[in-house]
Amino acid sequence: MTMTAVYPGTFDPITNGHLEIITRGMRLFDAIIVAILRNPDKEPLFPMDERIDILRAAVGGLANVRVEAFDGLLVDYARSRGAQVIVRGLRALSDFEYEYQMALMNQRLAPDIHTIYMMPSEAYSYVSSRLVKEVARLGGDVTGLVPPEVAARLKRRFAATGSR
Ligand code: PNS
Repeated sequence: MTMTAVYPGTFDPITNGHLEIITRGMRLFDAIIVAILRNPDKEPLFPMDERIDILRAAVGGLANVRVEAFDGLLVDYARSRGAQVIVRGLRALSDFEYEYQMALMNQRLAPDIHTIYMMPSEAYSYVSSRLVKEVARLGGDVTGLVPPEVAARLKRRFAATGSR
């Protein structure tokens, strides 16, 4: 049986922590679909098209990983792709409550789809898209926390808006 996992998120932008989960997940699953939520309630820094380009470039060399956008219920999307698993990263205790609620809600909606959590290595345990954006916006160095392409885009984005 082919095991397909969906790795969903906002990815605004992707971090090296996300990338690590993807590369480790590749060893567990036959295919991973990185699924970017189209969220009308959030105003992302990077528009959807750009996030797709960034993610495709970041996972370009990885076999059996593809990138798509989705909307609606995650479990419906996972089912439409034949995925049996949802993968999420779990960093600290602070992630737990939100993740626990989501996992139980998804379990109720689709008992046949299983959520699996993976912990990033210690080096990325404090890295989040939100903090990376804040540091970059304030002129800090995010090298090593995000792919070089993302660091360059963040620099250009904040240089262009002049945000501080
Ligand atoms: O990177 P994020 O913002 O933590 O990802 C959150 C995401 C995309 C996994 C979550 O918001 C989601 O699954 N949204 C889809 C809507 C849905 O299925 N909601 C009900 C399940 S809790």
